Amino acid sequence: MGKNRETFGSRMGMLLAMAGSAIGLGNIWRFPYTLGENGGAAFLLLYVLMLVFICLPVMISEYLLGRRGESNPFRTFRNLAPGSKWYWIGWSLKYLANAVTGSLMSYGADYGDYFQAFISNPWKPLLYTMMFLGLTGLIIALGVRKGIERMSKIMIGVLFVIIVLVVIRSLTLPGALEGVKYMFVPDFSKVTAQTCIAAMGQAFFSLSIGCGCILTYASYVDKKENIAGSAGWIAFFDTGFAVIAGLAIIPAVYAIALMNGADPNVDAGPGLVFITLPGVFKAMPLGGVAALLFFTALLLAAITSAISLMEVVVAFIIEELHKSRAVAVVLCFILCGVVGMFCSLSFGPLKEMSLFGLSVFDFFDYITSNIMLPVGGLLLAVFAGWKLKKANYMDELTNGGTLGIPRWLAMTVFYLVKFVAPIAISVIFLNCILG
Ligand code: PHE
Repeated sequence: MGKNRETFGSRMGMLLAMAGSAIGLGNIWRFPYTLGENGGAAFLLLYVLMLVFICLPVMISEYLLGRRGESNPFRTFRNLAPGSKWYWIGWSLKYLANAVTGSLMSYGADYGDYFQAFISNPWKPLLYTMMFLGLTGLIIALGVRKGIERMSKIMIGVLFVIIVLVVIRSLTLPGALEGVKYMFVPDFSKVTAQTCIAAMGQAFFSLSIGCGCILTYASYVDKKENIAGSAGWIAFFDTGFAVIAGLAIIPAVYAIALMNGADPNVDAGPGLVFITLPGVFKAMPLGGVAALLFFTALLLAAITSAISLMEVVVAFIIEELHKSRAVAVVLCFILCGVVGMFCSLSFGPLKEMSLFGLSVFDFFDYITSNIMLPVGGLLLAVFAGWKLKKANYMDELTNGGTLGIPRWLAMTVFYLVKFVAPIAISVIFLNCILG
């Protein structure tokens, strides 16, 4: 492997592609409602703690394994631990990627006011799912530099500009300050064990770790790159973007609620963006423009994440089944299309269908976010901390000592990965199962 693989063309392109994977529905849809359900500022603080001490070290490890392995997840684990069965992680990652893509798809399009009618429509969600998948596939078919890197750069740039416009609209509404306070003035009486778990789950999801996306992108990264530095930047962009998305939504929800003398429903759950927010836009001056910008942002964010998910599977098909990139994309489209079809119809014609007592959509959402991502993260941490030699880990982190990263810092990252992350992840995981 390695010699004729594509690589990213520039550091900025690489950072934006990875940020594109990380910035997604997790930031614009899941973060604001999880924050709303968990008491606002106190959750934000816990989120940052979890991010720095648990998720960032795991992300650094996934990045490091990817760059070292120079391959798809399956082959990376096989090459880095020859003769052992670790490459089976690759299989689980591959299935995970399909499933997440399938379930994410149904949330990728602009639902707006028509959420209920739309999701129960017999064919519209399917049509949008296929369009979304097709667009994702087209971008990937163009290759790492011309497709993934170039499109991520453009889309993340546009995304940033338009979300800032929505933030300006939201913050200039009378009463918006109440929402800002909710986000930044912590109320620790709201913090429970559940809050910590929600914060960690959100951080895993939001950084795209534990399912091979970062690993696959890292396999296209130059050997001279500073791994910890890049991972730090990506986590910073991602968190910054989540806060910005929160500022686009929460102050607006507060302002309109105050105006109507109603309760600000920031704890509306998953419906916050698709049901509450369209009503909020409708009630504000220039709301139509804000809605258009907001849902464009949501779509762009979703596409750059979906690209990273599909690339995991495409890289696998190219390298293991020896197909061309174009054929791999078509195969992947069909695979994701079938899973996506079941998910997107699960509120309509397939409403009665259930898997283990859950609707198809909830089933995929549950197994991917609550089970597979943490398990993937756990296995990655255990692999990096216990299977890879410490000397190799250090070597990769410091590029053979040339980066001048202080030894105590490198050691701290290593021990966080070896001990703290596996224990902490096991805790969320057990809680999910037992809770
Ligand atoms: N990180 C993405 C988001 O915040 C979701 C995602 C998870 C993407 C896992 C890829 C892999 O929306």
